[in-house]
Amino acid sequence: MRRRLVAGNWKMNKNYREAMDLFEKLNEASAAMPAEVDVMIAPPALYLTGFAKTSTRKIEVGAQDVSHREEEEGAFTGEVSAAILKSAGVRYAIVGHSERRQYHGENDELIGKKIQACVKAELTPVYCCGESLEERESDRHFEVVRKQVSTALSGFSAEELSALIIAYEPVWAIGTGKTASAEQAQEMHADIRANVKELFGAEFAEKVRILYGGSCKPGNAAEIFGKPDVDGGLIGGAALKAEDFTAIIGAGF
Ligand code: 13P
Repeated sequence: MRRRLVAGNWKMNKNYREAMDLFEKLNEASAAMPAEVDVMIAPPALYLTGFAKTSTRKIEVGAQDVSHREEEEGAFTGEVSAAILKSAGVRYAIVGHSERRQYHGENDELIGKKIQACVKAELTPVYCCGESLEERESDRHFEVVRKQVSTALSGFSAEELSALIIAYEPVWAIGTGKTASAEQAQEMHADIRANVKELFGAEFAEKVRILYGGSCKPGNAAEIFGKPDVDGGLIGGAALKAEDFTAIIGAGF
């Protein structure tokens, strides 16, 4: 019932020539991608407009971040508003990635403002959450993720968040080659769904897509995506190779 979404977060990778090359390969491959799967790529911000203009209908474009400011424009040097992204053909914005939390001091209050900016501009927010290794080892992972989700999403109505996508990315699995097992992903996704059910009701919980991210590869994607509460993936390293990303999109089909 929920459509699978596979999203590629390129992070701070690919110079211009490399980015065009990867984008072209993905565009070429897109005709053979399964119709049942939605596909999004989030390249460095500089490439967004060009990609949004020239991607095939299959591949949608997302930003890796967005300003927390609600103003559509103004004197905020370096910021890119949700409205500006939207006007350039961008459909999604990743918010609250653990690397933004770690290196830029973002917390769930600020991330909530970014979600608000997305809601106002009708940009689809992809809200990232996930526990650190220390939090998992001390058996606090459910509690930590519940707090992240309920803080960032507090004050919203179910209707305002109708487009929301959640990405569960355990920090210890990002870029480490150490993936959560399919069972670990499933039990956390089920808990996130139970949490949003308490916050926004059963209909919302049934509908919201929850992606898994963290060392997702062609070799493990089908098993992880096969779990009932996993609705696709947010892919880092493996999204930088057209063959790997395409294989993950087609995993299990
Ligand atoms: P990796 O797939 O490289 O572990 O990165 C996951 C991620 O952070 C996607 O946002």
